[in-house]
Amino acid sequence: MRVVIVGASSGLGRCIATGLGQGGASVALLARREDRLANAAREAGGDAVPIRCDVTDEQSCRGAIAEAAERLGGIDGLVYATGIGALALLVDLDAETWQRSFATNVTGASLVTAAALPHLERSGGTAAYLTSVSASETPPWPGLGAYAVSKAALDKLVEAWRGEHPQVGFTRLVVGECAGGEGESLTEFSAAWDPDLATEMLPIWMAREYMTGALMDVAELVRVVDTVLRCGSSANLPSVAVTPRKVPPTL
Ligand SMILES: NC(=O)c1ccc[n+]([C@@H]2O[C@H](COP(=O)([O-])OP(=O)(O)OC[C@H]3O[C@@H](n4cnc5c(N)ncnc54)[C@H](OP(=O)(O)O)[C@@H]3O)[C@@H](O)[C@H]2O)c1
Repeated sequence: MRVVIVGASSGLGRCIATGLGQGGASVALLARREDRLANAAREAGGDAVPIRCDVTDEQSCRGAIAEAAERLGGIDGLVYATGIGALALLVDLDAETWQRSFATNVTGASLVTAAALPHLERSGGTAAYLTSVSASETPPWPGLGAYAVSKAALDKLVEAWRGEHPQVGFTRLVVGECAGGEGESLTEFSAAWDPDLATEMLPIWMAREYMTGALMDVAELVRVVDTVLRCGSSANLPSVAVTPRKVPPTL
């Protein structure tokens, strides 16, 4: 299986790339930080290739996917793990943050998909997109409005692609809280957050039970992604949710 993982330099995307690579897939790892990608490619093993890609730049998306297809000899699976989540109240969100959120979480996903489409059509492959419980399973979390709104747009984008190209598999992967792996595989999702605002928001997310406090083992996510991609376009997997299991008290 030849898989391109976008957003493979840290967190969940890095875990998926290294996990699939170690499991025998040929993987291309895309993101902006090349030193991180080189480390991750080594960890993935085999013939893993690190390729620089900025999803907010159309030429970069086209060039990186073309290089990945050439070096892997085709593409059977695309995983879009790229994502940013600005922490700010809606009243404080500026236009630049809105634009960056949509460029990274939505437009970039479409540009990368467009570039990969001929390869996925040829292989009867599947594209999977990491989205959030806050876009479909809970109301938007206060402070993460731009994130939830852009992920809801991503959810719709996946449906739109499926409508125009039914011969390719398009799967929305609804992901719950997950810390990723260790070291450079740890999630950096909240790295740029204002700690004061985060401290203010956290009790609200907990009180409203949007955040359960349970964390998902990233190995489960890797297994699910592997299964979704191996099913290919013959299976109908429009949406798969992978969330932490909170065991209720026994009866
Ligand atoms: N962690 C969770 O609990 C959780 C829960 C639900 C959903 N998710 C989703 O899972 C995905 C991964 O999240 P994470 O927690 O692993 O976050 P993360 O550690 O911050 O990883 C984000 C990845 O996106 C890449 N990226 C950001 N901007 C980019 C750009 N312009 N061009 C190319 N790549 C870019 C980053 O690489 P560079 O900076 O090197 O470019 C990095 O590899 C996201 O879509 C997130 O919404 C995460």
